[in-house]
Amino acid sequence: MSHDDLPVSQAGVSRRTFIQGVIAGGVAVSASAYLFRSSPLVSGQAARAGSVERLLTLTVNGQSRRVDVAPQETLATTLRYKLGLTGTKLGCDRAECGACTVLVGDVPRYSCSVLTHAVRTRKIQTIEGLAAADGTLHPVQRGVVEEQGFQCAFCMSGFIMATVGYLKKHPNPTREELAHGVSGNLCRCQDYDKILTALHRGAELSREVTRG
Ligand code: FES
Ligand code: FES
Repeated sequence: MSHDDLPVSQAGVSRRTFIQGVIAGGVAVSASAYLFRSSPLVSGQAARAGSVERLLTLTVNGQSRRVDVAPQETLATTLRYKLGLTGTKLGCDRAECGACTVLVGDVPRYSCSVLTHAVRTRKIQTIEGLAAADGTLHPVQRGVVEEQGFQCAFCMSGFIMATVGYLKKHPNPTREELAHGVSGNLCRCQDYDKILTALHRGAELSREVTRG
């Protein structure tokens, strides 16, 4: 089955329109099938978080969000189930797939393996916070739309956030360098060549925006 033969096309919605519709929030993939499992956490986080207040004010996508957070709660759980930011996906929930990647202080992190309390003072950015206030997509998002780089798109927000974070330090990567930069993200549809083409196009568009 080709990309353009996906079920969304059968429903009268083009693949490009479908991608444009979901890319800002990544909400098209249902979370209902996820298993709510405990996560292996970065060593030391649990002990540090054990004695803190539960009510936090997090800075997420430029907004202050007041939220009640259990001491052992992961950032992915807080984002998805407390703040409703379901563009952040949970795949493995054990720091292996990268589907849950968000930026913490501009650095890509697996949110399934970070305790929310451990990053309570950091700036957090999710896929929902990438587009401009007027709805203009981030250049990496536009690259994905142009190249239609994903099949089911479950892994998409993680790849995009990993790329945005990588480009902050490496704005002009070769295709190979970018592949290495996002190598912590997996795609179960295994369409890596197309994904990389889309992300590399996003890097080009990012440089165009920077140059003005
Ligand atoms: S869900 Fe976090 S790395 Fe897989
Ligand atoms: S496009 Fe399906 S998991 Fe990556």
